[in-house]
Amino acid sequence: MKRVHIITYGCQMNKSDSEMMTGLLKQKGYLSTTDIEEADLVLVNTCSVREHAESRALGRLGELARLKRKRADLILGVCGCMAEHQKDQLLKKAPHLDFVLGVRRLAELPEIIDSVEKGSSSILCTGPDRKSPPPLHISLRNTGLKAWLPISLGCNNSCTYCIVPSLRGSLKSRDSREIVKEAESLVKNSYREVTLLGQNVNAYGQDRPGETDFAGLLEQLNAIPGLSRIRFATSHPKDISPRIIEALADLPRVCEALHLPIQAGSNNILTRMRRGYTVEHYLEIVSQLRKKMPSIAITTDIIAGFPGETEEDFESTLAVVKEIGFDGAFTFKFSPRPGTPAAEMTGQIPEQARKERLDRLIEIQNRITKQKNEGLIGSEQEVLVDGKNPKKPGFLLGRTRTDKTTTFAGPEDLIGQIVKIKITKATTWCIGDW
Ligand code: SAH
Ligand code: SF4
Ligand code: F3S
Repeated sequence: MKRVHIITYGCQMNKSDSEMMTGLLKQKGYLSTTDIEEADLVLVNTCSVREHAESRALGRLGELARLKRKRADLILGVCGCMAEHQKDQLLKKAPHLDFVLGVRRLAELPEIIDSVEKGSSSILCTGPDRKSPPPLHISLRNTGLKAWLPISLGCNNSCTYCIVPSLRGSLKSRDSREIVKEAESLVKNSYREVTLLGQNVNAYGQDRPGETDFAGLLEQLNAIPGLSRIRFATSHPKDISPRIIEALADLPRVCEALHLPIQAGSNNILTRMRRGYTVEHYLEIVSQLRKKMPSIAITTDIIAGFPGETEEDFESTLAVVKEIGFDGAFTFKFSPRPGTPAAEMTGQIPEQARKERLDRLIEIQNRITKQKNEGLIGSEQEVLVDGKNPKKPGFLLGRTRTDKTTTFAGPEDLIGQIVKIKITKATTWCIGDW
């Protein structure tokens, strides 16, 4: 058997794409390995969402050039979002690459490998897809408990800062029957949790009029016996319908956790971002969610230093962050992406000021996350046990329904089970009993 080592950057969708490619490559006789030294094929699955993500991958490609010089027979390819974004530029920057495979062309990986094995190199395969995506059951996962399930590709929105739609194309929802079948087969293989993935899962089905919408898909998945937990990411505030809120509240397997990126807490900035909702609308969604599910955990994404963001706009964001009290937030410095409208806007904020705003935001959010977690002390939480805690001998790690990392003492045979844990301690990062 030949061996493949995949290095994955970027979001959960990219991780899921890597699992799909692992499955495709298995059919070509490649087994996956964690040891790069024994790999015959190294694949770098890349991200372009911020400049930093690209520079990290480029740095890694430099290191891999050295490996390739040592081992001429090693096949080295780049795939994913940066492959699509940089196209032939990447072959100029990294001439040692055998192929560059755009994110919409991943299904063609087997053919590309054939060509390289026959002696081709510097292959460029980017642009819109020509083949349907491989079926969901191709994916080869190396975990046995929790699975990502991609339900849609692409995105129909046009947030002015975002490069994703230009790389991944417009929304394409998968057939709901295929999704349900895959979830059933995961359960048969003893998986207990699925996370449905899409750039905007709330828009699922909008491109398939008359078929199942997102709330309907949740209902169908909730009916699968043996599937303990259903999660999803990411939700867009403009598309979260009352039906979806009902589904979240009423369906017992759907966990009370929602990742709902707000991006900014000033209407001026939300308009410039072309997000399609106001702060007031967002607050209204939060209040409905909390009315129906008092224990729900709401997490978010926020960009600091968007072009035109005044000190006043930024302070509104901080005020909204405090008012809502998110359970957690992914926070980013605005990164101008070539070709996006925001990169060309007036009022670009200097790097130093963006960083300073980001630091203020992180400081406040970390404090809030800690308070939120401390609020759980004394409560009993249902925890799906993932494995041993590598940092604490004798302790296990798991997640609550609200997706909080939890640690507690217990025997290894609890791994894979759902247990009730009384919370006695909490930090920003973890809750549990220790
Ligand atoms: N489709 C998802 C997220 C895509 S990217 C959604 O709409 O929620 C993940 C996060 O990266 C975004 O939510 C945003 O907060 C951040 N992001 C995207 N483009 C960015 C940019 N140019 N600069 C800084 N952060 C960005
Ligand atoms: Fe990008 Fe906006 Fe689409 Fe998310 S919803 S992928 S931020 S364009
Ligand atoms: Fe994901 Fe990065 Fe692409 S966030 S969609 S891998 S640009």
